[in-house]
Amino acid sequence: VSSDKILCIPDLQKAASKKLPTSAREFYNSGSTDQITINENSTAFSKYRLRPRVLVDVSKADTSIALFGRKLEFPLGVSPAGMHAMAHPDGEKATSRACAKAGVAMGISSYANYPIADIRSACLSSSGIPQIDHVIQLYTMKDRAMQLRIIREAEARGCKAIFLTADSPVLGVRYNEWRNDFRTPEGLEFPIIERDTEMIRKVTHDDTFTSFNDDTHNWARDIPWLKSVTGMEIWIKGILTAEDTLMAIETSCHGIIVSNHGGRQLDGVPATIDALPECVAAAAGRIRIHVDGGIRSGTDIFKALALGAECCWVGRPAIWGLAYDGQAGVEIMLETLRIEFKRCMQLTGCNSVKDITKACLGVYRVDGP
Ligand code: FNR
Repeated sequence: VSSDKILCIPDLQKAASKKLPTSAREFYNSGSTDQITINENSTAFSKYRLRPRVLVDVSKADTSIALFGRKLEFPLGVSPAGMHAMAHPDGEKATSRACAKAGVAMGISSYANYPIADIRSACLSSSGIPQIDHVIQLYTMKDRAMQLRIIREAEARGCKAIFLTADSPVLGVRYNEWRNDFRTPEGLEFPIIERDTEMIRKVTHDDTFTSFNDDTHNWARDIPWLKSVTGMEIWIKGILTAEDTLMAIETSCHGIIVSNHGGRQLDGVPATIDALPECVAAAAGRIRIHVDGGIRSGTDIFKALALGAECCWVGRPAIWGLAYDGQAGVEIMLETLRIEFKRCMQLTGCNSVKDITKACLGVYRVDGP
């Protein structure tokens, strides 16, 4: 472990990035083309100011929420992001253990380096039951038979929901991957999509993605199909508009994740915190709404909840935790966010997550942050 003192997520990003070789660091940290969206994802939070209520007894402030009928210690999950094992050999297993320790949910990427079974069983309680809920992230895949095998495995292992990533008919334009001829490092596998290290190293990540993902995907065909084959909840990940929020409601999905894939798909789309209000307004309470992208502090989580999200997810911060110190690094990340979120609740006079409403936020300056 390096001697850097980690006080906040930017500290973790800095310390972790120093440890990663260039191609891994850029793969994790970059966005697509001009990096507009990835940058704005984080900076857009700063235009909001908090409206604190004072002289409130906050000694018993409770940060918890419920998701899939289970208590989360605070409104957070780790977003499904591929290749955790490039940051640390224990990869998604370490992430799973850290999430269990912190009492938050975890998404399993189709491009995880460990099988669903290993990730689930990494966080067993003493009675042999996984201590947290996992969701399985799926892309719409050309190979329906494989998609079905993944769904059956996720069901068998007790995953609670499918996060169907809807923003990726093709891969975003990522200069870093082209510049570095990015390939998955030797020894790493993609067991969920049934690819061993030799198979995946033959081709670029871009080519792998193109060969798997189905660019004919559409609402009318794919959502009914998913609903016909599984009883798991269906959540659509990658929504940025009121129109698509309404489509998710019309097709009877259980939830949406307002997400721009961490700025890795289409550059130039809005920050998720800016897209969130129109989705919340369109939903009018008819579908559950989560958000990810650029969340780097407990205050960011608070602002997203004030704007109508039920829960937030973080992608890169978990990877930085892994790169910094494996499971312990992810624990530091989660504990940092939990403490910041709790302090923010207490300093705004909120005793429960339900107290976090629009009235907690204001925009006081018109000249921007
Ligand atoms: C991702 N993300 C992602 N999303 C998804 O649906 N399937 C995937 O396989 C991946 N893979 C992936 C890899 C890496 C390295 C990153 C950084 C991200 C997107 C992820 O789920 C999430 O939407 C973003 O990471 C959220 O933004 P932040 O928190 O990273 O800013």
